[in-house]
Amino acid sequence: MTDSRQGNPDYRDSGLQFPDGFIFGSATAAYQIEGAADEDGRGPSIWDTFSHTPGAVLDGDTGDKASDHYHHLEEDLDLMQRLGLHAYRFSISWSRIQPTGRGPVNEKGLAFYERLVDGLLERGIRPIATLYHWDLPQALEDEGGWTNRETAYAFAEYARIMGAALGDRIDTWTTLNEPWCSAYLGYGSGAHAPGRTDGAEALTAVHHLNLAHGLAITELRKVVTNDPDFSITLNLHVVRGEGAGGPEAVRQIDGLGNRVFLGPLLKGEYPADVLADTAAITDWSFVRPGDTEIIHQPIDVLGVNYYSTNLVRLWDGETPRQNADGHKDAAGSPWPGADRVEFVQQAGPYTDMGWNIEPAGLEELLVSLSEEFPDQPLMITENGAAFPDTLVQEADGPAVHDPLRTDYLQRHFTAAHRALARGVDLRGYQVWSFMDNFEWAYGYSKRFGIVYVDYDTEVRTPKDSALWYAKLVATGIIPAA
Ligand code: FCB
Repeated sequence: MTDSRQGNPDYRDSGLQFPDGFIFGSATAAYQIEGAADEDGRGPSIWDTFSHTPGAVLDGDTGDKASDHYHHLEEDLDLMQRLGLHAYRFSISWSRIQPTGRGPVNEKGLAFYERLVDGLLERGIRPIATLYHWDLPQALEDEGGWTNRETAYAFAEYARIMGAALGDRIDTWTTLNEPWCSAYLGYGSGAHAPGRTDGAEALTAVHHLNLAHGLAITELRKVVTNDPDFSITLNLHVVRGEGAGGPEAVRQIDGLGNRVFLGPLLKGEYPADVLADTAAITDWSFVRPGDTEIIHQPIDVLGVNYYSTNLVRLWDGETPRQNADGHKDAAGSPWPGADRVEFVQQAGPYTDMGWNIEPAGLEELLVSLSEEFPDQPLMITENGAAFPDTLVQEADGPAVHDPLRTDYLQRHFTAAHRALARGVDLRGYQVWSFMDNFEWAYGYSKRFGIVYVDYDTEVRTPKDSALWYAKLVATGIIPAA
């Protein structure tokens, strides 16, 4: 290797050039940033209910105000433009559009997203819209939420409404964000809203979320007019095994974490081994004839969220069982049927979430997906890191020096570039997150933004990582950190 900046074993490369047309952007989600929880007719979602439940979220934090994006829209759009972002991935709050999840459109709620999308387009930024980033209207949860098949049909109706309203302007429609979390953290472990803890319900939710995706794509296609891309975003698990039982443990977790989604979505069938592993929990009779055909819709791009890896082995049944799967401990398990699997603590370094930093895992994930689904374009729809940040006042104004976040991003952009060089059809990269926000069960204790938010004043300050990213976006070349 003649250029020491490239091919580094630690993935700290610089000077690598991304192809023309590579879409550099950043991502957020409605409940995490918008605030204005009670304004302009918005109805409550499961995250409003959950965050107001004592003990559910660290420090009792809620998204009532969040980053107050609802009232700082123009300023936030200007900031995206200043950073030169090509794309912005946001989510739409279903209960702003339909306060009870069904019925007529709340025009004021819709108007907010019209302003958002038009504001992006005026600034030359592509809108990547996610229809569902975990904030189910509470009224639908009251009827069973994702354990109720009707929720999938209500979602399709909401998708049709949004397609009819914005279907001349959206660049990419993403149906669901990380259905794994919605199903298993929401209905299995109870770490997320609605906080239920029943393995059978979690698996039922998996299927109804998959079905909702298929139905929504079908509805969107009927009404959009501008030839957008259709997509779904998954948090696929890079699972490594340890010891003699490693391969078996990997098979089970890969099944529940990855293949139970990839199977129906991209192959039109549920993996037989997952059905067998979970047979004592459910008979899967909620999968009706024709469902997997509905789910198996062609998508233009598969969204991939990646943060870290998992290490698993078979538990010996005697030593205390480790459950270092990266998710907050809660009353139930997010891995129904995998009672023999143990998640082993991995080597650091770690981010502030306690997640191990492993850029090789991103390269491995992208390459393995592309080998299995060679005709399926991919997009990294989330990657980024939480670290404690401090706002400092300097002679030329406020600043946040976050070298660890920049280092994390540099190493993961290197991983993405290596995947491209190995032939992966990777279309773009959306950094999580555009700004600090409500990190679900961890509330405001974790800062993922490349833009710092002072939650008292709502003043925004681009961190050093944002300035580094702006250079990458402007040149297409990974700058030295
Ligand atoms: C993902 C979520 C996103 C954010 C990041 C850190 O699982 O999609 O909203 O919380 O993790």
